[in-house]
Amino acid sequence: MASVKANAYGHGAVEIAREAERFGVDYLGVAFLDEALQLRQAGIQTPILVLGFVAADALSVARSHNITIALFREDVLAAASVLTPDHSGRRLKVHIKMDSGMGRLGVIGKDEVLSFIETAMKVPQVEVEGLFTHYARADEADKEYTQRQYNRFHEVAEHVRQQGWPIPIIHAANSAAGIDTPQWAGNMLRLGVSMYGLYPSDEVNRQRIALEPVMSLKTEVVMVKTVPAGWGISYGTRYVAAQEECIGTLPIGYADGYSRMLTGKAQGIIRGVKTPILGTICMDQCMIALDPAATESDGNVKNGEEVVLIGRQGDSVITVGDVADQLGTINYEVICMLAARLPRIYVRGDQTIAIQNPLAQS
Ligand SMILES: Cc1ncc(COP(=O)(O)O)c(C=O)c1O
Repeated sequence: MASVKANAYGHGAVEIAREAERFGVDYLGVAFLDEALQLRQAGIQTPILVLGFVAADALSVARSHNITIALFREDVLAAASVLTPDHSGRRLKVHIKMDSGMGRLGVIGKDEVLSFIETAMKVPQVEVEGLFTHYARADEADKEYTQRQYNRFHEVAEHVRQQGWPIPIIHAANSAAGIDTPQWAGNMLRLGVSMYGLYPSDEVNRQRIALEPVMSLKTEVVMVKTVPAGWGISYGTRYVAAQEECIGTLPIGYADGYSRMLTGKAQGIIRGVKTPILGTICMDQCMIALDPAATESDGNVKNGEEVVLIGRQGDSVITVGDVADQLGTINYEVICMLAARLPRIYVRGDQTIAIQNPLAQS
């Protein structure tokens, strides 16, 4: 399963789903029904599982778009059992979710899960296609907790197998478990962050898989200016030029997901040199120092020159992890924050295959 929830971790759900479909993945995973509907509206035909909660009054919508739901609430199962039959005879596909120790969604307890599965299997409107759970600490070096979760899940899965219940898809692993403990995965991996080329944590065994980030965040200088000594930069003039300085304005800000909390911490790469972002990051703009490194080569920086905020330019690199460290968060959040407003350019090899600009769809 390719996890394309949260706009494919900021990468753009439709394009990533198309690419995953092209690769022949078996399933797409999203968090909300609306995300699944967006993909169906874009013509995606691959099975989609909504990993999060789907309300009882939305079940017929899910069924009519052939969207599979995670099921773990008695009242939702009861609502499924009174669904009017679909004219094409289609059943609502469900994957039953067990809480094996994440404490988030899912049925807790072996007997409770087994009885929930049995009840669901008796509902003619429902097809129980899967059984799954989610690990809370798979990205840690110490696997003791994950082992305990696996044991609980495995007991249920074993019972299902021994009873001969026809539930073909048994799944437990996210990226971290897929990398470190694939023997505790079942028969489908739910890959998110690793599919985008990032490691789920510093503790997973990086020797097992070489990942390369899929996404870069690039902008360009839209105004080069020289400010005199004492000139304030941005709201609150948190940065004041100590001498005459060359500064560039970049058309990206916190509304794009380039967090204001990066103020005073972030850097950009211009002409292959890392240089600080100066002053408060605004909603739609921020400023970058162009002195001294960036002006060393080839005369002054000009409007239109590329600035890399995440990714590589020349020999310099800013990783998603670097930005996450500056923000005191994890790489996942940095990429998920990147707003829909940012145009996304998709390349395969050196070929541009799609450009998405949701604000300027023609
Ligand atoms: C239920 C579930 N499965 C799989 C994933 C994918 O996780 P990862 O991005 O760590 O591979 C997530 C993401 O948080 C999830 O919530």
